[in-house]
Amino acid sequence: MTKLKDHLDAIRDRLPLSVVIAPYVALKKRGRSLTGLCPFHNEKGASFSVADDKGFYHCFGCGAHGDHFSFIVEKLHMPFMDAVEHLSKQAGLTMPKFDKQGEENSSSQSTDSKSVLYDINEIACQYFEAQLRAPEHQQIRDYLKKRGMSGALAKQFRVGFAPARGLAAVLHQRGFKMVDCIASGLLIDPEGQRQPYERFRDRVMFPIQDSRGRVIAFGGRITDAGEPKYLNSPETPLFHKGRQLYAHNQSISTVRAGQAFIVVEGYMDVIALHQVGLTVAVAPLGTALTAEQIALMWRSCPKPVLCFDGDNAGRRAAHRAAQLVLEILKPGYTVEFCFLPEGEDPDSFVKKHTVAALREILNYPIGLTDVLWQVFMEGRTINRPEDKAKARQDLLQLSYRIQDPEVRHFYQQDLNQKLQKLLMQKPKETAKDQKNLIHQGVRPGEAKKNLDGHKILLATLINHPTLVSEMAEQLMSLKIDNEFIDSLRNFLLDFFSADHHTYNDNLLSVVREKGFGSFIDQAMTQDLYIKARFAHTSSELDQARSGWLEVWHFLERNSQLKDTADQVSLELKTDLNQRSWQSLLSVKRQQSQL
Ligand code: UTP
Ligand code: MN
Repeated sequence: MTKLKDHLDAIRDRLPLSVVIAPYVALKKRGRSLTGLCPFHNEKGASFSVADDKGFYHCFGCGAHGDHFSFIVEKLHMPFMDAVEHLSKQAGLTMPKFDKQGEENSSSQSTDSKSVLYDINEIACQYFEAQLRAPEHQQIRDYLKKRGMSGALAKQFRVGFAPARGLAAVLHQRGFKMVDCIASGLLIDPEGQRQPYERFRDRVMFPIQDSRGRVIAFGGRITDAGEPKYLNSPETPLFHKGRQLYAHNQSISTVRAGQAFIVVEGYMDVIALHQVGLTVAVAPLGTALTAEQIALMWRSCPKPVLCFDGDNAGRRAAHRAAQLVLEILKPGYTVEFCFLPEGEDPDSFVKKHTVAALREILNYPIGLTDVLWQVFMEGRTINRPEDKAKARQDLLQLSYRIQDPEVRHFYQQDLNQKLQKLLMQKPKETAKDQKNLIHQGVRPGEAKKNLDGHKILLATLINHPTLVSEMAEQLMSLKIDNEFIDSLRNFLLDFFSADHHTYNDNLLSVVREKGFGSFIDQAMTQDLYIKARFAHTSSELDQARSGWLEVWHFLERNSQLKDTADQVSLELKTDLNQRSWQSLLSVKRQQSQL
């Protein structure tokens, strides 16, 4: 045990976790734990729970999870050692000087002890694999089968099962010393009279391998309800959570062949993606993605794709990742972002939909500048001159986090352009709505039905309200069969002719209030924006205008050409496999010129 670890334990002993957290969160007692509003995401209900007896907090809303030190690191944005110092003071302890050299020496001196740790992990892995195949654990195999994991993938990822007890005896029998077993993290020393005991009990085991395929740690999942859902090995001389990635070794050859890493959140997600042929999926190890992990991917892949759930937690995680990347950006290297529909992770998504649908999302990632722009716009309204000045200042501030001067220069240019554009427009949309749009996921089941020019036209108008009055005449002349779409068109016309709106009215929320929410939810999705980028709220007004007119002309011309009308509308309604609405338009244009 290192001196640092002793000191951390001393802090834990003296300071209940709730005392550390109390200044930042109003906690109420509920059952055995304390709960409150999560300080890491915006919420109305109390999803944040603190367990003093276990020494960790967990947010059931956003997944924030950790102990004394991670709380301070996250909350006060401090480096780890500063957090230790901060808490030492609070605990009334003086902070000893930690001999970093000494610590490193002891871990490098122990080439043997490291190799013993590799051996212990390997033996444990084999034991867990064998247990998963034991007759008495049919239920566990059923669990994995029910979750759709194939035997082949379970084997490839060396998935196993840790029964309630057994590993300690195996390790003992193999002649490993107790200290080494404890150092491996597989056994826990309760430091009293009691016997060391096994960390992983009744859990499905996911071995974590280093880039050379050696087992260095485990993640273990319970198969029924309970807490914590996943348990991970502690930091050991072999295992550094923040520096390694799950399935790095399984993905690296595909990445070297030219495909980008896809970063997902969980172990099950990784396996599900590998199972359907996306053999580039990796995940962080029970913590949020770190800068070190991004740097690790950059060694073989200049543009990894980070995949998040489309819910609040996912958005928060994406924003955090974006800010992290800023600090280490360098010419030629970046990350991209993808968002899944709310409530779905990659595992559930490929099961519910298809790999093709997932690829479709992955093929149209959002760039880092766009996500930074979201971070910047979050909760911001820019109406008054002071807001504008503050916005420019904040944007500059954000760009200063970019260490690389070249990259910083171009980010400043890009972000300033975005701001300029926004300032030139009349205020009409809040950041929240931008976000909502970008995060609407693709719903492949509905995609076919949604490919409809009228929907594109109306979506464009809702996102660019100034166009409504500009296009009133064209809008009026459209022949719309669908009653619901027709009434939405009429609403838009009425709303703008009545002139009872102000620029601060947010058309999107008004549309929703007036009972057209299902249009927003079902038509204004990423699917639509893939087909017609100009419809999106982030596109230039000019683009939106010309795109709108192009579609309108197209529809108009076709409704005039009686002979071909039927056929065209049939084409509009059938599945378009073309990459974009625009490309269809140009094909059609050529045809009509023949
Ligand atoms: P999730 O809660 O999203 O679970 O945690 P999941 O990956 O979708 O798992 P299934 O589908 O319910 O089995 C995502 C990741 O966060 C870490 C794990 O690495 C997990 O894969 N995690 C989660 C923990 O380390 N501890 C926890 O208690 C929960
Ligand atoms: Mn899952």
